[in-house]
Amino acid sequence: MSGLAWGRRYLMCPPEHFRVAYEINPWMHTEVTVDPDAAMAEWMGLVATLRAAGADIEIQPAVEGVPDLVFTANAGIVSGSQFVPSRFRHAERQPETEHDIDWFEAHGFRIDLLSEDVDQEGAGDALPFGAGAGAGGRGPVLVAGYRFRSDAAAHAQLSKMLNVPVRSVELVDERFYHLDITFCPLDDRRAIVWPGAWDRFGCRVMEALVPEALVLEADEANCFVANSVVVGTTVVLPSCPPRVGRQLEAWGFDPVECGINEFLKAGGGCRCLTLALDVDLS
Ligand code: ARG
Repeated sequence: MSGLAWGRRYLMCPPEHFRVAYEINPWMHTEVTVDPDAAMAEWMGLVATLRAAGADIEIQPAVEGVPDLVFTANAGIVSGSQFVPSRFRHAERQPETEHDIDWFEAHGFRIDLLSEDVDQEGAGDALPFGAGAGAGGRGPVLVAGYRFRSDAAAHAQLSKMLNVPVRSVELVDERFYHLDITFCPLDDRRAIVWPGAWDRFGCRVMEALVPEALVLEADEANCFVANSVVVGTTVVLPSCPPRVGRQLEAWGFDPVECGINEFLKAGGGCRCLTLALDVDLS
């Protein structure tokens, strides 16, 4: 089994200024304090786990005043040397974008902007899937979520800018406000999925797209099990229920648990803390 064609190089940002400073998703409560030492230890643990699995990690400098910058999945969408920065829905996260653009410009990426009238929160709401048979043999598609943080109107722009077919999936449960809390591609045919967060049409789209799905139970989805990072055959999960671990192993994957409880306080898991830099959708 070859695993994914991407996912061996990630951008991550240390939690030096991470805290729950505002509430923009149902998991965030400003009265909850983040333990900075625990957050840093968990984040370093994730870096070490991803490196041990064979991934290269690039570090984006932390910036004071933008606590959610740690969730690099939301910086934007990468394809080859192209970078499409996010258009954040909430004012609280909009100041992140200039820092993201700075990093990608300094690292040789071409910046392509979505129009100002649409919201789109990067790889948090857009993940590639399939390269061969799983996608009908015509190359990858971009699975794109919308409603809570991204607009469906962004999808036609993404398709054109990135030259890739887009499959739109409407999210219906605000606890699962980003696609990457509901969908984790494992290889060209397989994915961890939480259909409870998708509307009926979205469920049909995903059923047609993913030949072999590991369908989560509600309590598993609530623990951010779909917000996992795949490096080759290693699957790094915020927590790994035995049932999920057994299925992953039966498929030839190595599940590795990597606790990131401090980040769950902000509604983010392992995947949210990473942005794959080696995606090429063309
Ligand atoms: N507190 C952040 C927010 O609500 C968490 C982002 C999680 N990121 C993700 N890719 N799901 O925007």
